[in-house]
Amino acid sequence: MDAKPDASNMQQLFPGEVFANTADFDTGIRQLIPRYDEMLEVIIRCLPSTSHRVLELGCGTGEFSLKILQRCPDAQVIALDYSPRMLQYAQAKITAAGYQNRWSSIEADFGEWANNPEKWAIGGEFDACVSSLAIHHLQDEMKFKLFQQIAASLNSNSCFWNADPTLPESPVLVEVYKAAREEWATEQGITLTEVRAKVGTSVTQGYSSQNQLASLDAHLQMLTQAGFATVAVPWKYYGMAVFGGWLCEF
Ligand SMILES: C[S@@+](CC[C@H](N)C(=O)[O-])C[C@H]1O[C@@H](n2cnc3c(N)ncnc32)[C@H](O)[C@@H]1O
Repeated sequence: MDAKPDASNMQQLFPGEVFANTADFDTGIRQLIPRYDEMLEVIIRCLPSTSHRVLELGCGTGEFSLKILQRCPDAQVIALDYSPRMLQYAQAKITAAGYQNRWSSIEADFGEWANNPEKWAIGGEFDACVSSLAIHHLQDEMKFKLFQQIAASLNSNSCFWNADPTLPESPVLVEVYKAAREEWATEQGITLTEVRAKVGTSVTQGYSSQNQLASLDAHLQMLTQAGFATVAVPWKYYGMAVFGGWLCEF
């Protein structure tokens, strides 16, 4: 999600880092995004527990990585993020949880990877690729290129799942979705204004900029065109959705 364009907060973040202080991320994201854990757990349920190689794009502080490592006991997770601050934070949590032998990080822009995959030793033949709250920072043309690169990096029966905000289907729903987020924050004992006070200012970095939302339909079309034979939306909650699919017909 985007950082707030607030001139009073002078720390410049990369799009997607969200909070001025990285230590605020794990609590703050759960206040900002309704049902954050449920959303990630839907993806976890869609992953084969026998996965050996899992690619995570935009791993942030490692919250999703930890869930994948628990779900897939044989998996090596290759976690990519362009933010050294987020990666450092994730590495400390992964090590504290004892997963350091099954998790490796790559500091890279996934837009750059989509354009020049040979620049990084990321390899291919992944059993799954996942992402949450990150790809919506790319323009649609780059989202499509990234989906193509993901498809090229997966085994033939593998899956890709992404959790991201999508463009509201109508102006009326913009207000409905906003109200739902306010209500969620209130249920967590805080107001959105209070959470947003901890959000930093982001500037365009590499291929990512402020929210570049696409409709859910547009995402599904891009996935189909990128080579996913089965596309699905296993979860949607107001403006947030989990979507993706398999390269083969399921
Ligand atoms: C909102 S955080 C989500 C982190 C994690 N996936 C989660 O759900 O907790 C988005 C992450 O995507 C990363 N990100 C955004 N654009 C990126 C890009 N073009 N290349 C690599 N990482 C990117 C940010 O640095 C940030 O760590």
